[in-house]
Amino acid sequence: MDKPHQMMPDIEILPAHFPIPGMGFLAVNAFVIKAREPVLVDTGMGIESEEFMKALESVIDPRDLRWVWLTHDDADHTGNIQKVLEAAPGARLAANSLAVLRMSTTWPVPMNRVYWLNSGDSISAGDRKLTAVRPPLFDNPTTIGIYDNKSEAFFSADCFGAIIPSPARNADDLTDGDLAQGMIRWESADSPWAHMVDPGVFSKALDRIRQLAPKRIFSAHLPPARGKTGQFLELVAKVPTSTPFVTPNQTALEQILAQMKGGS
Ligand SMILES: [Fe+2]
Ligand SMILES: [Fe+2]
Repeated sequence: MDKPHQMMPDIEILPAHFPIPGMGFLAVNAFVIKAREPVLVDTGMGIESEEFMKALESVIDPRDLRWVWLTHDDADHTGNIQKVLEAAPGARLAANSLAVLRMSTTWPVPMNRVYWLNSGDSISAGDRKLTAVRPPLFDNPTTIGIYDNKSEAFFSADCFGAIIPSPARNADDLTDGDLAQGMIRWESADSPWAHMVDPGVFSKALDRIRQLAPKRIFSAHLPPARGKTGQFLELVAKVPTSTPFVTPNQTALEQILAQMKGGS
């Protein structure tokens, strides 16, 4: 994991960068919203459990958390969910009902602590309203991003992620070329269904975010971004007509393994 840092006076990022062999890095971020009722957004990767819990504890006493919001039940977002709920007995688990049902096949989700949300539903975190908004691109039907009306930030789950050449602290640290290529590549890989969608219909799906006009985008898979919503929407509008991403096959794996052997 990278060092947590403050993105806004009341919002901290718990960042990590996952290496993608031969391609670069994918950010894997969780966030802490220091609302009157503090919220953890997603729970990091299980592979770095100890580091994640330390990072969380460095920005907030988990016992102060009142909400743990899961944007969806993919493993890179639920990696430490059980540990977090144990450490945060005062927190409710905000998630889509289908995410809870699916997780219940792996571990006993405490149903009395769960809060079910569909896109469009809101919770109050005391000093702000957090509204569930399904982002225009997603890899999981349970996905709910968050629009925070106080910070005017959109926590966009997997959407607006990018495969980037090297770890970065801020989206401004990326060149426009790297950002464009990395975002279209990631979205094409993560939401391959977008290639089946009529670009005109898809553009209408982007209107919800255009109307929200968030000042900041906090993607789980991109360093934090400010003032880039228009640029990001233009980029993702191109995904349906972009070249579909082809996942590496066995030949590629053998090349990667040979390189690793050569380097060791
Ligand atoms: Fe996902
Ligand atoms: Fe993800």
